[in-house]
Amino acid sequence: MAIIRFAQHTGTEQDVPLTEGSSLMDLARAHNVPGIDGDCGGSCACGTCHVIVDAAWAAKLGPRNEEEERMLSMTPECHPNSRLACQILATAALDGLRVQIPEHQF
Ligand code: FES
Repeated sequence: MAIIRFAQHTGTEQDVPLTEGSSLMDLARAHNVPGIDGDCGGSCACGTCHVIVDAAWAAKLGPRNEEEERMLSMTPECHPNSRLACQILATAALDGLRVQIPEHQF
């Protein structure tokens, strides 16, 4: 089974089944991953789905889009590998992707 791994700042990890075409935010919410609120429903307008992608995966995801960049610039704990989970669509190629959830969201 393909999975996305969500890691809390405490070190706890949760593997979520990967559904192709769903955003990482939708997958996290569907499986009650703490710390991913997705308040705007995935329209890149709230910043409550901030994740930090493991360095080994960051280049495979491509660059942030313009709206994502703008939201992340206002996000606490912004990191060079920060992304918004609602802007990453799951594909089979992302099997095993690990993302860190920051301690604080908006
Ligand atoms: S769900 Fe609002 S920015 Fe991602």
